[in-house]
Amino acid sequence: MTGRRILLIVSGSVAAYKALAFIRLLRAEGAEVQAILTEGGARFVTRESLAALTGQPVHQDLWAAEESIGHIRLARWPDAVVVAPASAGILARMAHGLASDLAATVLLATRAPVLVAPAMNPAMWEHPATQANVALLKARGVVFAGPAEGPMAEAESGPGRLVEPDELLAALARLFGPRPLAGRHALVTSGPTHEALDPIRYIANRSSGRQGHAIAAALAALGARVTLISGPVAIPDPPGVSVQRVQTAAEMLAACEAALPADVAVCAAAVADWRPAQAGAQKLKKRPGEPPPPIALALNPDILATLGQHALRPRLLIGFAAETEQVIAHAQEKLQRKGCDWILANDVSGDVMGGSLNQVHLITREGVEEWPRLPKEEVAARLARRIAEALA
Ligand code: C5P
Repeated sequence: MTGRRILLIVSGSVAAYKALAFIRLLRAEGAEVQAILTEGGARFVTRESLAALTGQPVHQDLWAAEESIGHIRLARWPDAVVVAPASAGILARMAHGLASDLAATVLLATRAPVLVAPAMNPAMWEHPATQANVALLKARGVVFAGPAEGPMAEAESGPGRLVEPDELLAALARLFGPRPLAGRHALVTSGPTHEALDPIRYIANRSSGRQGHAIAAALAALGARVTLISGPVAIPDPPGVSVQRVQTAAEMLAACEAALPADVAVCAAAVADWRPAQAGAQKLKKRPGEPPPPIALALNPDILATLGQHALRPRLLIGFAAETEQVIAHAQEKLQRKGCDWILANDVSGDVMGGSLNQVHLITREGVEEWPRLPKEEVAARLARRIAEALA
């Protein structure tokens, strides 16, 4: 932690006293610490305690003369922002981008990684509003430590306790964890493609982009420079990733080729195999008494196979095989045919597409590994670690 700049936001919770012990630990580890105290936080710990322990002035008021531009400077200063304790209120302000106080404004303006340690009554933690805010923040890359379960100040028990200072320090150390993919460029495709029938209508599929986006985020977390080429999706951009949006398979291929060279490419997009051979410039008309128009299809380019034969072929080329039967046999055949190094094979006969869990087999030229059914983020983290080992 030596030389790391940590901006600690202390919001309103009985557990705010633990923030003081956390500052002592951080400083003992050689970190530089500045603190922002919210209005609620100031009900539980004093500005004087924070100033004494950080050895720095404490920031409280968005409109104080020294903060009026200072909030941007403050947002740019840290290597990481830690919100501990994080009340339900600050989680809501973060999730919805409400720049209503200094803490929420700095959180909106910072590009530093953010670690959040919630502390609140179990009923407030379990409330669907809080859970929705937490899901939104996690999807944007905010890292959570806790809450822990146990006895609470109000003689209740349940999830909502602030994690202990040493656990928070360990979570922060993990945030600064090893970056084995630093200096590597990763290309990831994600989402469906939309193939126009006319200016209004298109052919598409049920891909949500969740697995591909999670892979992009996991590679970035290990230090890779990531270019994510995404078809139309309704999920947020992963943090720390350069995103290019496309509609069609042809556009996705062009964007991939333009992004080369890359050390690794992961083709997770559910690219449409076919497109309407002729996309009408005007809306197709339904005329009374006439039969429906036939739709002639043309073959789309295969992006994975094109990358497999490319002069700038990535050193490690990874594809997916979404199958509904004979998953492994079909995936092995695809590995050969498309000239890639690994295939993640998954059975999509259930609720994988659009769902949050995925079960894959990792198929390499050496053999087949069965991975357990895992959240898509964990499949992504595992894959990113394997990629880092392979490129080491
Ligand atoms: O042939 P199939 O669509 O099952 O192959 C799936 C794999 O090939 C995925 O990695 C997908 O991203 C990739 N693919 C592609 N371009 C296509 C079709 C599939 O890159 N036109």
